[in-house]
Order: sequence, then C-alpha cells, then structure tokens
Amino acid sequence: MHILFLRCCAIGVAFSSSVVLAQSDRLEDGRRAYESYCKNCHENEVSKAPGTRQENDWAERSKLWEAVLFEHAEKGYLEMPAKGGVEGMSEYDVEAAAEYMVTITHPDMPHD
Ligand code: HEC
Repeated sequence: MHILFLRCCAIGVAFSSSVVLAQSDRLEDGRRAYESYCKNCHENEVSKAPGTRQENDWAERSKLWEAVLFEHAEKGYLEMPAKGGVEGMSEYDVEAAAEYMVTITHPDMPHD
C-alpha cells in the first residue's frame, strides 16, 4: 500500500512538474535506490536527518543547488554518511536517489 502510494506520487510529480518523460526512468531508479538505502534515515529522523517531504527540514540547506546536495550525498556531509553508508552504491544511484528525495520534497522547485 505504502509502495503503491509512493509510486503514484512519483508519477504524479513527474507529470505535474513537467519533468520530461525521459527523466521519469531516472526518477523510478531513484525511488528504488531511495527506498532501499536512504528512506530509513530520512523518514525516521535518524541522527536528525532532514525528512523527505518535510519541506521545512530543508530550509537551511542549499536546496536550490542540487549539485551541492548530490555531492554531499555522494561524499558525505556532517552526520550524513557518504552514499548513505552503502559502499558499493553507484554514483548514478546516489544521485538519482537524492534527486528523487529533493523532487518529492520540493515538487515546485526548478531543477538544474
Ligand atoms: C545513516 C542514516 C542516513 C542514511 C542511510 C542516509 N542519510 Fe542522508 N542524511 C543523514 C543525516 C543525519 C543528514 C543531515 C546531515 C547534517 O546536516 O548533519 C543527511 C543529509 C542528507 C542530505 C542533505 C545534505 C546537505 O547538504 O544538507 C542529502 C541530499 C542526503 N542526506 C541524501 C541522502 C541519500 C541520497 C541517501 C541514500 C543514498 C541518504 N541520504 C542516506 C542521514 C542518512
């Protein structure tokens, strides 16, 4: 049920924010990586991780600079472990997961 909701939500976001169709594959990959590797911390406030869909949690972060957020996801940032602590994760998956998180949290923001 929860997964179904997320899928509908991701598709809704992909269409409503005029993300071109080619990108929706990437969003789907991102959703999968996010649910496997990032969700646990980012939906349960582990170590005060900013919450997905909690727009206010991201207010102090460089939210308009996806490149910076992606780099932090990849390399780590303060309490955020590099690649969410998953050694073998590909750069593509980390970025897609971060993009998915940012996209569902800030559906209206412009993307780089
Ligand atoms: C072990 C828990 C944990 C996991 C797993 C985790 N994160 Fe985080 N993340 C954090 C915490 C804690 C912060 C807040 C860092 C801080 O400001 O101290 C954070 C911050 C971030 C930020 C914001 C960085 C910034 O510049 O402010 C992004 C983006 C992010 N995480 C993406 C991801 C992605 C993508 C994944 C999955 C690949 C992931 N996180 C997995 C704990 C986690």
